[in-house]
Amino acid sequence: MIRRHIGRNGPEVNAIGLGCMGMSAYYGAPMDEADGVALLHAAIDRGVDHFDTAEMYGFGANERLLGAAFHDRRDKVFIATKWGPVADPKTNLPAGYDGSETNARRAVENSLRYLRTDHIDLYYLHRKDPARPIEESVEAMAKLVQEGKVRAIGLSEVSAETLRKAHSIHPVAAVQSEYSLFTRDYEADVIPACRELGVTFVAYSPLGRGMLTGSFSKDWAPDGPDFRAGMAPRFAGEALDANLALVAEIQALAAAKGVSAGQIALAWVLSRGEHIVAIPGTTKLANLEANLAAADVRLSADEAGRLDGLAARVQGQRYNERGMGAVNA
Ligand code: ATR
Repeated sequence: MIRRHIGRNGPEVNAIGLGCMGMSAYYGAPMDEADGVALLHAAIDRGVDHFDTAEMYGFGANERLLGAAFHDRRDKVFIATKWGPVADPKTNLPAGYDGSETNARRAVENSLRYLRTDHIDLYYLHRKDPARPIEESVEAMAKLVQEGKVRAIGLSEVSAETLRKAHSIHPVAAVQSEYSLFTRDYEADVIPACRELGVTFVAYSPLGRGMLTGSFSKDWAPDGPDFRAGMAPRFAGEALDANLALVAEIQALAAAKGVSAGQIALAWVLSRGEHIVAIPGTTKLANLEANLAAADVRLSADEAGRLDGLAARVQGQRYNERGMGAVNA
């Protein structure tokens, strides 16, 4: 187990948390509530204390699941959730961003109710609202901190410039953005800015949305509505073929070391800085246990060197054009 702080002088959590999105949305069929609750309880039993959700993950579905699991053991968990995206009332799917105080207040009350708690440990702005200055959204979150509804604030997929502006208004505890062997966009600026400012960098999709575990193949087919089938260029066509060849290189390195490719991917993320934590997602206890065991995997300089060139060879963007328009914002 490796423990790391969330924010300067903030609480310590297990460096490997649990990203809960895929339990309810975007990665195929959602879990049954009973199975989801059992997995979340098993995660606590194995030392996981940092659980990540968002209003957008099913607009209530994922937060309700966490509420069902954690309402009677609130002191054992650090709960992070996010606001900003608004739902289309007809489809319940995201239909734009609203970073206003009005939306923050609407969202936080829903999240508190769904999570069955009186406070959120870490409240992120899920994406910067392109129509508003970041200061407006941060001031709204700062008020929620003052009111005791939120303990600390975070931002997701922001640029270093936006982070610095936000941090000058109210201390930012964490920036959560995609980071993995295949996605290293923020290494040059955001990750160093986080280190300098005492902000924890929370790496989501550290397993490349599952691809880095080696569990995808060319004829992969989703078992329900799945973001990766259609909205993720890396998982489509020739890009998928090229990326699977890179995964084979990770698998070869992992096999020689007697670990799994996914463990290599997680160990690599944790090795990139003491201010970095990872939140791999899973719906399966065996995978959760394998992911936690990655904390014991150390990469040699030679192994790290072999992994270093992979990201530059990845084919396809991590999101479609619309999604890419909302990142590094
Ligand atoms: P995200 O942060 O978006 O959830 P991720 O953590 O990079 O993305 O990857 C999550 C995906 O990896 C899920 O599809 C998960 O599938 P399961 O629910 O079937 O586990 C998959 N995954 C997670 N851990 C895994 C492991 N140890 N082996 C194989 N697949 C794994």
